[in-house]
Formats: sequence, C-alpha cells, structure tokens
Amino acid sequence: MQPDCEKLIKELTLEEKAALCSGITSWQTTPIKRLGIPSIYLSDGPHGVRREKQLSGFGNVFAEAYPATCFPPAVTLASSWNRGLARAVGQALAEECLELKVEVLLGPGVNIKRSPLCGRNFEYMSEDPFLAGEMAVEYIEGVQSEGVGVSLKHFAANSQEFRRMTSSSEIDERALREIYLSAFERAVKRAKPYTVMCSYNRVNGTYAAENKRLLKDILRDEWGFDGMVVSDWGAVTDRVEGIRAGMNLQMPTANGVTDREIVKAVKEGKLDEAVLDERVRELIDVIFKCHRNKQAKKGYKADFEAHRKLARHAAAEGAVLLKNDGILPLDKSANIAVVGELAKKLRSQGSGSSRLSPLKETSFIDYLDEIGADYVYAKGYDCLTDETDDRLINEAAESVKGKDAVVFFLGLTDAFESEAFDRKDLFLPRAQLKVLAEVLRYNLNVAVVLTGGSPSDTSYSDKVRAILNVYLTGEAGGEAVYDLLFGDVNPSGKLAETFPLKVEDNPMYKFFDNEIAEYRESVFVGYRYYETAGKAVAFPFGHGLSYTSFEYSELQTDGNKLSEGEGLKVAFNVTNTGDRAGAEVVQVYVKDTESTIFV
Ligand code: BGC
Repeated sequence: MQPDCEKLIKELTLEEKAALCSGITSWQTTPIKRLGIPSIYLSDGPHGVRREKQLSGFGNVFAEAYPATCFPPAVTLASSWNRGLARAVGQALAEECLELKVEVLLGPGVNIKRSPLCGRNFEYMSEDPFLAGEMAVEYIEGVQSEGVGVSLKHFAANSQEFRRMTSSSEIDERALREIYLSAFERAVKRAKPYTVMCSYNRVNGTYAAENKRLLKDILRDEWGFDGMVVSDWGAVTDRVEGIRAGMNLQMPTANGVTDREIVKAVKEGKLDEAVLDERVRELIDVIFKCHRNKQAKKGYKADFEAHRKLARHAAAEGAVLLKNDGILPLDKSANIAVVGELAKKLRSQGSGSSRLSPLKETSFIDYLDEIGADYVYAKGYDCLTDETDDRLINEAAESVKGKDAVVFFLGLTDAFESEAFDRKDLFLPRAQLKVLAEVLRYNLNVAVVLTGGSPSDTSYSDKVRAILNVYLTGEAGGEAVYDLLFGDVNPSGKLAETFPLKVEDNPMYKFFDNEIAEYRESVFVGYRYYETAGKAVAFPFGHGLSYTSFEYSELQTDGNKLSEGEGLKVAFNVTNTGDRAGAEVVQVYVKDTESTIFV
C-alpha cells in the first residue's frame, strides 16, 4: 500500500526533509527509519549493472563490482534500429538489477552526438533525436516493466566532455527543442522514467542542476514528468537554488553539508518550506514505488545464461557492414590469418562510470579456440601502448602469406576514448595502420573488423575488401564477430551517426571543445548538415550493407498532404532478392519542402 505522503511530510522534521534530498553514500538515498522511509540503491548503467561490493563516498569505477552481463553499449544497440531488441535488453538489465538489489539503473543516455569526437559518444544513441528517442522509449519500458526505475540522462545538452563541469552549451531555442531536448521529450512523455539525471554543464549560462526552465517549466509543467530529478554525481553547485529549480536528489552524499544549507535557507526565510515539501513529495513517491516493487520481487534470480545469448545476439544486430566486395561472408573452411591484438583484447565496453565487471568476456581469438577453429594469429601491434615494432610487423607479414583471407582488427583502443575527455581527431592508432599497410603488400584479401565507440578515419577503405564495424560488442563479442564474418548471422545494422571523411567537415569543428560552447550550427547536426551543405561523407547516417539484397517497390501513401498534427501512412513492399535470409531496416525520411522556416 502506498503510504500517505502528506501525513509523512507533516511528520518529517525540517532536518529530515533536507537529509532526504541527498544521498547517504555514493549510491544510496537517505532512509528515515523512524517513519519507515526506506533507502533505495541507484547504480550504473547503462549497458550492464555495476553494483560495487564495498560502498565508498563518491563511488569508484575501479572498485570491485559484482559481475553482471555486459551488453553492447548504446552506440551498438542503437545501430540495430531495433525497438524490440532495446526493450529485451532493458528487461534483461532490470532482471539483473533485481538479483543485485538495485532499484534504479542509471541510464539510458540520450545526449545527441553533436561531434564524432565526444569521448562519451559510445554511451549515447545517435546524432538523430528521433532514433535516440525511440530506442530510449523501448529500453526504458523494458527496464521499468520489471519494476526497476531508470535515470534518463544527462539532461540536457551535454554533448562534450571538455570542461563538462563548467562549460555552457549556448543554444538557440529551435535547436534546443528540435535536437537536444527532443529525445528526452519523447522518452519522458511516452515511457515515464522514474528518474531523470541532470547534467554537469550549464545550458545558456545556468547550471542544469539549477535550471528551473529545464527542470520545472519544461520537464514537469510541459512534459508532465512526475518522477524524481537526480543530480549527476557531483553536479550540484548551489543546493538551495537546485531545490527551487526542481532538482530533488543530490548524489553522491555531501556528508550533510548541503543539507545544512537547505535548513539554514528555510530558517532564514530564503527558501519557502512548501517548495522543499514539493521536492520531498516527488522524491519519496519514487522511493516508495521502487521499494514496493523490490519487495514484490524479493529473491529474484536472473537468467544469466539467457542474457549471455541476448548479448551475443545484440552485438551481431548492432554491427554495421560498411563495405564488402563479396569477400564476406568467409567460408568456414577458408585458410585464414587473424592480425591485430584487438582480436585478442576484446573492446566490450567503454571507459568511465559505465564500466562494469562482465561475467565472461570472449574475444574473437578466445572463441576460435573454443570451437577448435584452424587459423594463424599475429599480434601486429600492442593495444596498451598503441605501438608496433619490426618484429611484430614481420610476424604479421609472414602470417598472411598464401592465406585465403586476412581478418584484420583495427580500432580505437581504451586510451583513445573515454568519459571525461574528448578525442582530438578521427585517426586510428598509427601503429595499426602501419601494420595494415605492410600486410597489404603480401595479401590483398583483407577484411577489416573495426572496433571503437565512435566514428574513426576510414581513408584505408579503398585498400581493403571489407569493413565490418562492430563498435563495442559487449561481453559476447567474440561469438558475435564469428557469427557475422562466417555468415551465421547476416549483418543488418545501420549507422546511427555519420562517418565523416575528415573531422574538419563537421560544421562545429572550429567551435567544439570551448568552455563557452556555441552551438552555431543550430539544428544542422550530423546528416542534417551534410545533406543540406551537399558535403561528401565516408559513410552516411543510415548506411549498412547486407549479404543479401533488398528491393523496394509499390510505394503508396494515403494522401499527398500532411498538416500539423496529422499522420500519413506510407506503404511499400520490401523483397529479399538475394539468396540468403536477411533483415532490413526500413528508413523513411520526411521533409517540409515548402517550409516557412529555414530547413
Ligand atoms: C556520470 C554519470 C554516472 C554517474 C555515477 C557521472 O560521472 O556522468 O553518467 O551515472 O557518474 O557513476
């Protein structure tokens, strides 16, 4: 039974109300035992559960965590364009939350990929707000269908890591609404997340944690959000202003310091206690809802084996075949060489707060060994130092001689991309390209497996026969790459972001990574810019090849006019005209051809 919140608010002391508005540890809310208000546990997220074994003050990404299934991060999941998959992954994540006693999972992240250089792009869905929003809706509904809450993050306009705690995203109203808030709006209105996490940065000068326009006027009053707003970890600068603006929970614990600021402000008449009551009401509502759900599922056991299969499936569905002249799929009896340490050191996930302890990581080489496949392997380069030497180069060159095909692993390593910093350019580690060039002198049948959480420079593409972009694969990456390379799974992922030819082509290149981040390109983000400006790109948004072919025919619409608020039905046939089974992502793009505003 839901407790009587009004009665509780009357019984709470001012000090207790203030205490409720901040965490008691890095991950838990403050309980008020005498009134039976429980504590709930919030945990990263988003592509797996990271519940630390020992609680610390600020949270520690290097602390030992309970192992959990590592699903492919958002960049890969979104490239599947598969709503059902996002829902299934969400549900599996919630099941692991239940087993690990986590009430709120800190994700999904729907910030827009304004630049391919943002260090955290791997945690975000897309450069397109519609795609990001649709995937988020399903993910959230999947998680919350099990009674576990999500934290939709980072609200808002947090599209760079450079000076993320102080930078100000300076955005015009149209770009804010159409691009940077749109995925949040879709997710809030449709999926009703239990919590929203405000970002570190300022938006048009005001910190997100104190931004009444964002947190109250837009989020609650316009979109009808009735959950709890939690600060990003350490995002609070003025606690009292945050209470006024609509920010409920400060995380992690501030050891009572900011609670005292709230009490003082009320006592001095600077903060109306009724406003604090409102924040407490919103907050305990979510706490009781989460707690009640957890009680109902006490002792829940997650099916980790099934989740492993789902992680494998999701990694394969999110992979994008960028180029293929017919070398792929490989024949299982082919005589192959595998080159590059990334074949052995799986990039299952990105670095930073989302990093969890996977249950069992399987690299491509691990899997080849597991099934007893015949192959030769050459390390080529070192993933830790991103260097190579004559010995490694010669060994790689020797290994490929006379082979039917070479599977060459290229990609961004951990040192290149992470939360907390942005990349400086699109280039891959130079050592990898040096080894590739040498290998190509002895064997031209090279299929590249590309890893990384963001677009990278692909100027080598003319020289190789195929590029299979597997992004970050989650823990079952080895199996998924095998499934794709050898045709057990037909690639069907499509890019959820543009791969530019060079980073200078990106419209905001000159203005990226400034503390005062001027969003001068306005709504022309990603393909919206490249299309409008007629700029060539390496691989466009929506691109992705298959081992089969599809034909589109008989396009019909149920009208030829679309007025505001109306829908239009579009129907056509999609036929698989090739000789293998395959899946196709159907994309429909619409545009106002006689727009009264600039498009
Ligand atoms: C990140 C959040 C994360 C939180 C808790 C912050 O640094 O920005 O995404 O959920 O830490 O680990």
